[in-house]
This record gives sequence, structure tokens and C-alpha cells, in this order.
Amino acid sequence: MKKTYDAIVIGGGINGCSIAYQLAKRGRSVAVIEKGRLADKASGAAAGMLGAQTELTDDGPLFEFARKSRAMFPELARELEELTGVHIGLQNRGMYRVAATEKEAIELKKLIEFQTKSGETAKWVSFQELMEQEPHVSSSLIGAMFIPNDGQVDARELTIAFAKAAMLNGAEFYEFTNVNDLILGNEKAHGIQTDLGPMYAESIVIATGAWSPFLIEKTGLTLPISPVKGECLSVLTNKPLIKGTVFSHGCYIVPKKSGRLIIGATVKPDTFDERVTVDGISSLMEKAKRLVPGIGESELERAWSGIRPLSKDGLPFLGEHPSCRNLYIAAGHFRNGILLSPATGELIADLMDGKSKDSGPFRLSRINSSVSA
Ligand code: FAD
Ligand code: GLY
Repeated sequence: MKKTYDAIVIGGGINGCSIAYQLAKRGRSVAVIEKGRLADKASGAAAGMLGAQTELTDDGPLFEFARKSRAMFPELARELEELTGVHIGLQNRGMYRVAATEKEAIELKKLIEFQTKSGETAKWVSFQELMEQEPHVSSSLIGAMFIPNDGQVDARELTIAFAKAAMLNGAEFYEFTNVNDLILGNEKAHGIQTDLGPMYAESIVIATGAWSPFLIEKTGLTLPISPVKGECLSVLTNKPLIKGTVFSHGCYIVPKKSGRLIIGATVKPDTFDERVTVDGISSLMEKAKRLVPGIGESELERAWSGIRPLSKDGLPFLGEHPSCRNLYIAAGHFRNGILLSPATGELIADLMDGKSKDSGPFRLSRINSSVSA
């Protein structure tokens, strides 16, 4: 094993792989160290929605970053497919944020107004229009906010495509290799201690999702990120029930290829317990049947879970450690790490290259002020 690199990325989830791809593409020697398999944690559990407008409903830097990242997907899909042959499953049939009550309809209409003023496309569809577009949704709904530009990908395939593209640009990947410690000195990161021994690099990136606080605490910094478990299931239908994604409070249904629907997701704070529970899955099944009754006749395929990384102020941490040079962090993407992965990779590589001086609202120095643990 070569033991010295320009950059070491810890974590083989979507963000680690996106960062590795950007760095390798720019000519850096890169190693990615993953304690299990690539894409086996949150990034393999995700439904793959690119819900910039559906999920991020407040004005602010995250909404901006999400819109920027979403816009990168068409070009990225072409680039990755050309390079690796992997189809990331990018499709754009839009998303419906459905309303079951008048109160929800009023809230969604306000959101449409705000997003339209921000230059985005979103429109209200009445119950009749919804039925014309999606005839299998429940007749108890009163309408929906239709967001044509929120598409979706296959989250696992995208992670693997980033990794393959990074490898084709020279990056080395070490799976089943735990990073136990950071090698620090003179307020600088020099390397890491792994199961395979020490490895050194000019820059170290911690992209270990919900597990990021464990390595960062070695620097004396408490990173305010907590784990939030999400359970999902998939079912197979013998006729297409929906074309667009149906999204409501507490449940979404994402149509994939070959009649597969992903139904997600539970939200269980403060746990790393990855067991899939009967309560979690049965509550999702009930909610999904209320949205699209035909789901009751579908075939149950499988169920799984993942751990989302939630930061205390809801913004990811992206950038250099405030007091330890050459140590970068990219963590805390909570419900939107798939959507945010292209922009995350680009931003971290730009910071290392000096193309960006600062990550603004995502910088780590905010920990000492508004978001201290
Ligand atoms: P992870 O994917 O968790 O990767 C971190 C990696 O670091 C892991 O592989 C882990 O093994 C490794 N690691 C940890 N510690 C060490 C160590 N010491 N040494 C070596 N390796 C280590 N987002 C969307 O944008 N759209 C969606 O539709 C969506 N749906 C979701 C549905 C569910 C059920 C869940 C749980 C999440 C969903 N998300 C979605 C959120 C998204 O999955 C996450 O934000 C994203 O995957 C986080 O990626 P990551 O690379 O930061 O972390
Ligand atoms: N973004 C969907 C989820 O986290 O469940």
C-alpha cells in the first residue's frame, strides 16, 4: 500500500466519494478509507429524491446550495456515465407535495408563492388535475403542489459511479478499513491511523456522516451532529401506480424502474440502532396505502434503514477545521445528502485548491457561536 497521498478521504458514502472524484479529477493522489462497504450506510439507504424545493422549504443558504447542486445533475449524469458506464437513474417526472387538509393547501400555496418569487417553478394542481396526472392517488386528497424540477436518482448507483470515476482518475479505495485516530501535531493534521497502519496526506477529509463527531473529538472539537434513523421499504407493482414522486407529511412514495416503489421514511432521533422495526414499517405501509390505495395489493420486496447526520442548526459542516490546518469536514447533510453531493464535492475541492476562500454559512467556526453542542 502506498502510504502518502495528496488527500485522504475518510468515509465511502456519497459525500466522501463525490469529494474523492473531484480531487482525483483535478490531479490529486487520493485514498478513500471506508470501514465497511462503499454506500452501505445512509447513502445506500436513501430514496434518491432531489427535493430542493420539496424538502427545503425555507429561504436561506441551504436552499441556495440545494438549487445549485440540483442543477449540476444533468451534466454530472452524462459525465459519470461516459466515464464509468454506470447509469445513475436520473429521471425527472417531478414531485407532488400533496395536501389532505385545507390548512395544508394554504401552506403549500404560500410556499408556491415564495418559490415562484425565488425564480423556481411550482404550481398548485387541484384534485381534478391531480387525478388526471396521477389517477391512482387517494380521492381523500384535495390537491398538490407540483414541482416539475425536483427529480430523482438511484442513490447507491450514484455513490458507486462517483467511486468508479474517482478510481479511473487514479484514486485508491480501501474498504473494510477502520480509521481509528488522526495523526495531529502543531495544530495540523498529518495523517490517520488505520487497521492497516498509518497513512499520511497533505489534506485529510472527514466525510463519515453521522459518525463524524467521533473522529473530530480527537481534535478537542465537539461537532454538533446527531444520528437520526430512517426506515424504508420497497414494493413491486405489476402496473405503474404513479409517475411522479408523491410526498406528504411522514411518508413519500418514489417510483423507480420496473414497477418498484420506494416508501419512506421513519424519523427516529438520537439512535445508531439500524434494526428495522415492525412498528416503523407497518406505519409506513398504512400511510402509503392512504396516499395510493393500490399499494395494498403490491408485493413486499424488502425493508432497510439508514442513519442520517443531523446538525444542530440544520446546515451541513463543510470546510476546514477552525484550529487544525489541513483537516476538512463534510458532514451533516441530514435528509438531503444525495441532492447536495455534487455541490459538496466541488466546494471541498475548491477550498483545497484555494478557488473558494471560505464556505460561508457552512463553515466550522460557527460551532463556537450559534451551534455549540
Ligand atoms: P454516509 O452515507 O453515512 O457515509 C459515511 C461513511 O463513513 C459510512 O459508509 C461509514 O461506514 C463510514 N465511516 C464512519 N466512520 C468511519 C471510520 N472511523 N473509518 C472509516 N469509515 C468510517 N438524501 C437525499 O438527498 N434524498 C433522499 O431521497 C434521501 N432519502 C433518505 C432516506 C433515508 C431512509 C435515509 C436514512 C437518508 C436519506 N437521505 C436522502 C439522506 C442521505 O442519505 C444522507 O444525507 C447522505 O447519504 C449522507 O451521506 P454521507 O456520505 O455524508 O454519509
Ligand atoms: N430525504 C428523505 C429522507 O431523509 O427520508
